[in-house]
Amino acid sequence: MSEHKNTSIVQLMVDFEKGSISRRDVLRRGFVLGLSAPVIASILMMGTRGAAAQDGTPAAEVEAGSTIVVPEGLRTDLGGTKVSAVLAEASSPDGPWIEAALAKFSEATGIEATWVTGETSATDRLAIYNQQFAAQSDDNDVYQIDVIWPGIVAEHAVDLSGPLADLAAQHFEAIVANNTVNGVLVGIPWFTDAGLLYWRQDLADKYAVTVPPATWADLEAAAQTVMDGERAAGNPDFYGFVYQANAYEGLTCNGLEWQVSNGGGSIVESDGKISVNNAQAIAAFDRARTWVGGLSPQGITTYQEAESLNVFTAGNAMFLRNWPYAWAASQDSPAIADKVGVGVLPMGDGEGARNAATLGGWQMMVSKYSKNQDAGIELVKYMCSPEVQLSYAVERSHLPTIASVYDAPEVAASSEFIPRLKEVFQGGAVARPSSVSAEEYNAISTIYFTELNQVLTGAKSGADAAAAMEEQMTPIMQDLGF
Ligand code: GLC
Repeated sequence: MSEHKNTSIVQLMVDFEKGSISRRDVLRRGFVLGLSAPVIASILMMGTRGAAAQDGTPAAEVEAGSTIVVPEGLRTDLGGTKVSAVLAEASSPDGPWIEAALAKFSEATGIEATWVTGETSATDRLAIYNQQFAAQSDDNDVYQIDVIWPGIVAEHAVDLSGPLADLAAQHFEAIVANNTVNGVLVGIPWFTDAGLLYWRQDLADKYAVTVPPATWADLEAAAQTVMDGERAAGNPDFYGFVYQANAYEGLTCNGLEWQVSNGGGSIVESDGKISVNNAQAIAAFDRARTWVGGLSPQGITTYQEAESLNVFTAGNAMFLRNWPYAWAASQDSPAIADKVGVGVLPMGDGEGARNAATLGGWQMMVSKYSKNQDAGIELVKYMCSPEVQLSYAVERSHLPTIASVYDAPEVAASSEFIPRLKEVFQGGAVARPSSVSAEEYNAISTIYFTELNQVLTGAKSGADAAAAMEEQMTPIMQDLGF
């Protein structure tokens, strides 16, 4: 071991013992130093005062991207070319990591990679992508695409099944199959997603409510108790439950969880049967309606992921429904870091009730209109490599799509829920009906979230909205041959 490394380890131990760095910092720095998991664990156990230090460190104190190891075998003969990649939205808490990841790529390959920020809403983002594809624009070379879009964007994609066959073989088969349309591999999985329930463990303890709540009724009761208590204690801005209820793709994800968890079907089943207009789905929609302006802010019908996360990280909500990235984002927030629990969403009470998490996630696609396809492929190879996925999981709690990365001890150490909820993340989540509705998925989803949003604003009853959904979806599915 080099002297430099020895000094760094000693410094790490000293800093932790003093309480000036958090457990997450020990993990990150230990990982960069190449320490094994047992060594890191023993440093963590040694830190008596350190362990009491706040676990979540504001992101600014941690060097973003410091855990990225550049994979071997990237081409260096493309130096001087440029690639523009449409990645996260400008306000993403993952921004500093993305910047760092691209800088490391550029340094290793000589390819100048630029992050083009995408639209925040997946629905708006698809509209912009479609405009660029229709114009055959070569402005952007690489696009981050949603797990529900392969059927929609396939004709604009470079087939990656040849150039990235070895990499594709390492990723979960189900996602690679989802991304393959008529034999064309449209995108390589970057990270997967599943809807989760976050809660304030400190407040669960303070008010002696059971977490995670087993059913939606239990969630309502716990949320009410804590909200009443916190408001009485002087915080009028405190809410019981926040989620995504704006009229956009995120509401389709929430609504699917509500209805599946209540035994109400999954919008369109894989045989083409529309399942929204049934008593259990309607009951789930009507239940959610009662939250608005009560346990949830009146304005929740305009909330996307960021708005709901902001209420939670400001310390103003008991429960949050969000994706795995919200774990790392919560740890960045001094108000709640170290006070957060995470688990599965509740189940309903209808026949066939179960826990349900919507399957999400993003892939990297190379545009057919790109003039720098080889450089774009190289960027995809890098971003979707096990090395870079490991860093994204450790630093930003994004779920890997490669089994070996899932099981890495560093992942468990930084985000213990990832291995704990592995069954949900590896095949247990509920897919939106994007395979069965293929290029018409966005039309189906738009009908669904528009109608459901109207239930939540009080403009329509659950029953009327469900009937309207079915009526509008029927001709679309018929056109598709169902
Ligand atoms: C997350 C999911 C994505 C989903 C979107 C909805 O980004 O990964 O699949 O469509 O949220 O807002």
